[in-house]
Amino acid sequence: MEEDEAGIHARGVTRSFGPVQALRGLDLTVPYGQVTALVGANGAGKTTLLLILATLLAPDAGEIRVAGYDLRTHPREARAELGWMPDTFGVYDQLTVAEYLQFFADAYGLNPREGGDRVLELLTRVHLVEMWHQPVHVLSRGQKQRLGLARALVHRPKVLLLDEPASGLDPRSRVELRDLVRSLAAEGAAVLISSHILSELEEIADRFVLVDQGATAGEYETSVLRAEARGLWRAHALEEEPLVEALNSREAPYRRQRTGGLDIGPLTEPEAAALLGELVAEGVRIFSYAPVGGALESVYLAMTEDRT
Ligand SMILES: Nc1ncnc2c1ncn2[C@@H]1O[C@H](COP(=O)(O)OP(=O)(O)OP(=O)(O)O)[C@@H](O)[C@H]1O
Ligand SMILES: [Mg+2]
Repeated sequence: MEEDEAGIHARGVTRSFGPVQALRGLDLTVPYGQVTALVGANGAGKTTLLLILATLLAPDAGEIRVAGYDLRTHPREARAELGWMPDTFGVYDQLTVAEYLQFFADAYGLNPREGGDRVLELLTRVHLVEMWHQPVHVLSRGQKQRLGLARALVHRPKVLLLDEPASGLDPRSRVELRDLVRSLAAEGAAVLISSHILSELEEIADRFVLVDQGATAGEYETSVLRAEARGLWRAHALEEEPLVEALNSREAPYRRQRTGGLDIGPLTEPEAAALLGELVAEGVRIFSYAPVGGALESVYLAMTEDRT
C-alpha cells in the first residue's frame, strides 16, 4: 500500500509567521527502519517542520502523511503513532519523575498495570530510576532531556521526532542516546532527528536531509556521502621530511598544522586510501592518518560557503 511506504511523507509544506516564510515548499521522506537527520542553519525551519509533523502547528499548505495517516483528515490516528521530543522541556513542576511519565502513559491509553511497567522500563533505559520520586523541576538539564526522550517513547511510537535531543547531554549520555536511537530504528521505527553536531549525526543517521531557508536543499545517504565527500586528512610521520618530499613530488596539497602533523587534501576516502598506500610503500613511517572533521561537516561547509 502506498501510504505505508514511509513513516513520514511530506510534500510542498509551507508555513509563514507574519512576514517570515519559515517553510517554502519543503519535501521530506522518512523511511521505516532508518534514522534520517535534518540538518540546517539556525532559522532554516527545522523546528517549525517538526512541530507541524507532531501536529502541534498547522501548515499553510502541503500534503503530509505520518504513519500512513493524512494529517488534515486523521490527526488523532497520526498522533497515536508518533513520539515527539521537543527542543525545550515543558514545565510540570508539581509532578515527580514517575508521575510525569505515568501521566503520559495514561494520556496514551495504556492500562494502569501496563503503564506502570512501561514507566519503570523507560526510567531504566534512560538511567533515571533513582530519580523516580524527585519533582521534575529538580532535574538537571541533561536529566530533563532524558526524561523528555522517555516520554516520547511511552506508547511505542512507530515514528519518532527528536529536536536536538543531544543538546545538554554529557558524553556518556550522548553515546547512550545514539545507541538507543539506533536500536529503535533497528526495531523498525522511522526516526527523524535534528541536530547541529554533525560529527555525531554522521554516526547515527542513515540519511541526511539538508534544509536551507525553509526548503529541501539536498538528500544524501550517509554511506554515499562518506565515499564522495572531500575532506582533509591529518597525517603524522615519525620523520616529517620524507612525508613532505613525497607530497611535494606528487603536488599533493597540504598544510602544516601548528599542533603537529600535516593536513593533506581535500581528498575523498578512496583517494586518501590510495595515497596512504603509496606513502607507506615508499617507506614514509606514518603512525597516524585520520580525517579532520567528518564527511558531513565538509559537505555542509561547502554547501553553505557562499552565505553572507
Ligand atoms: N512562533 C513564531 N513566530 C514568529 N516567527 C517564528 C516562529 N517560529 C519560528 N519563527 C521563524 O521561522 C524561522 C524558522 O525557525 P525554526 O525555529 O523552525 O528554525 P530552526 O531550523 O529550528 O533553527 P535552530 O537551528 O536555531 O533551532 C525563523 O526565521 C524563526 O524566526
Ligand atoms: Mg530549532
